[in-house]
Amino acid sequence: MRELDGRVAVVTGGGGGLGLALGKAFAARGMRVVLADVEEAALDKARAELPGATALAADVADQDSMDALADRVFATHGAVHVLCNNAGVGPSAAPWLWEQELGDWRWGLEVNVLGVLHGVRAFLPRMLASGEDGHVVNTASGNGGIAPIPSAAVYAVTKAAVVTLTECLKGQLDGTRIGVSALFPGPHMLRTGIFTAERNRPARHARAQAGPVPRTADEIAEAMRAHGLTPEFTPVEDVAEQVVEAVRADRFWILPPSDRTDALVRARADSLLTRSDPAYLREAP
Ligand SMILES: NC(=O)c1ccc[n+]([C@@H]2O[C@H](COP(=O)([O-])OP(=O)(O)OC[C@H]3O[C@@H](n4cnc5c(N)ncnc54)[C@H](O)[C@@H]3O)[C@@H](O)[C@H]2O)c1
Repeated sequence: MRELDGRVAVVTGGGGGLGLALGKAFAARGMRVVLADVEEAALDKARAELPGATALAADVADQDSMDALADRVFATHGAVHVLCNNAGVGPSAAPWLWEQELGDWRWGLEVNVLGVLHGVRAFLPRMLASGEDGHVVNTASGNGGIAPIPSAAVYAVTKAAVVTLTECLKGQLDGTRIGVSALFPGPHMLRTGIFTAERNRPARHARAQAGPVPRTADEIAEAMRAHGLTPEFTPVEDVAEQVVEAVRADRFWILPPSDRTDALVRARADSLLTRSDPAYLREAP
């Protein structure tokens, strides 16, 4: 996908955070951008910040909703070239994974895992049939995608699944004109709305008991400072630029350079190779 000008990009979770930054980066390359999101307020903000894009309501957890989105985008634009399955949620963690309510698991799996699959199912067949160059970017996370943070088990499990799904897709699409990338946003956390994702929890997955009160990214940073840690954030714009570069270069791993990440990758691989217990499991900040 060397040439982006005039092509069509669809970004799920495009109403805010990283998704909106991706939309802006693609628009800056002359792409026609469709931002899809379940949160109406986020879509309104996206319309104000990126008036050239089309902002549409769609729920990645619902195949019918994603199919309707694809129908509308293909009818309007005639093609889709870049698909970013980016929408994601992080249900607030329970102390133990066996105490995490099934609604938390179902919500996390529906959005983070099935959401990616629904996007692929809705868009990929027509992208392939078009015979044009294309690219699918799936947003994973270092938590789970590289090594899990056990205290955030639901999120970690879903993001491990995103990586495996994306690897399978890459294997199956080799030899076609559709490139694939697994995105690990970072290397530091992003100052986005993911930490208050509970705002988008659907009623069908309502908690039976009140969970922990979600903290914003800034509140998490404050708590880290109180523990003598120095919080670091990666600007969403930097991640969006990495994605544009990777799409152009047809690079699979979008994994920014980081000694900390590399050490985790090695520690996990070493643990497997030496059949020794995982010594790389870490706690959330
Ligand atoms: N923020 C970080 O530090 C970080 C780190 C690694 C990975 N990620 C991943 O990056 C991606 C983007 O998250 P973000 O950090 O920009 O958070 P965000 O909450 O700012 O953005 C996520 C967007 O997804 C939307 N969304 C939620 N449920 C949806 C659904 N069912 N259907 C459609 N849209 C839905 C939200 O409304 C929101 O606009 C996620 O997959 C997240 O897991 C984030």
